[in-house]
Amino acid sequence: MSSFTPSEHEIVDKTSAFVKNKLLFAEKGHDWLHIQRVLNLALNIAAQEQGNAYVVALAALLHDIADEKFKTPDEPDGKTQIQTFLNSIHCPAAVTKQVVFIVENVSYKDQLTTTQQTLTPELAIVRDADRLDAMGAIGIARTFHYGGYKNREMYNTNIPPTTYATKEAYIHSNAPTINHFYEKLLLLKDLMITETGKSIAKQRHAFMLQFLEQFYSDCSISPKFTTL
Ligand code: ADP
Ligand code: NI
Repeated sequence: MSSFTPSEHEIVDKTSAFVKNKLLFAEKGHDWLHIQRVLNLALNIAAQEQGNAYVVALAALLHDIADEKFKTPDEPDGKTQIQTFLNSIHCPAAVTKQVVFIVENVSYKDQLTTTQQTLTPELAIVRDADRLDAMGAIGIARTFHYGGYKNREMYNTNIPPTTYATKEAYIHSNAPTINHFYEKLLLLKDLMITETGKSIAKQRHAFMLQFLEQFYSDCSISPKFTTL
């Protein structure tokens, strides 16, 4: 992060401290460690491709603030929380505007039901980084962690994967955890936008396919819905 000016550095540091504190009790697949991984991935992608690293860093740090999956009803929405915080640390308004735009458009579940919006290079980078953290070994770990957190079945060969008509149906699904691979994780490879993201996604995708094959073999099941 050495390419930042001293004032950018200060704002990034203050934002890190704010996010870290806010996520202390977060579900452990969407915690400070997830933010650190997304930040690292996003800065690595930004170094390879065109994109403002300062905007990328702030958006990566703030991207899961007030995630609808975890937000309490009395909490202000993500946009308001980000604007209030960045104003309080004197982040330039033009930067705040870009960060809010990215955070509002980064989510996979939001993309399920909204039409494609204009992609800025910084949005493409943060979105790819967040999605890469849903893939590969870490993606598998996060998914089973989330399934455990929701006390979902790991697999049930009688319940096939589905497509969700609304974001609410997706969030409130009670489907077995293994279905999430077909409903999201295996679709991510083809949704990558940056060249760097595509190349990392290819390896992580192959690892997930290998995992599924071993999983079914270990469990002595052969679900009808697999394409393996
Ligand atoms: P986003 O937060 O980007 O909108 P999701 O809501 O799909 O994306 O969730 C992020 C991560 O949370 C997933 O990649 C997965 O690890 C976990 N997760 C979300 N929904 C499920 C689910 N139904 N089963 C298992 N894991 C889930
Ligand atoms: Ni995220």
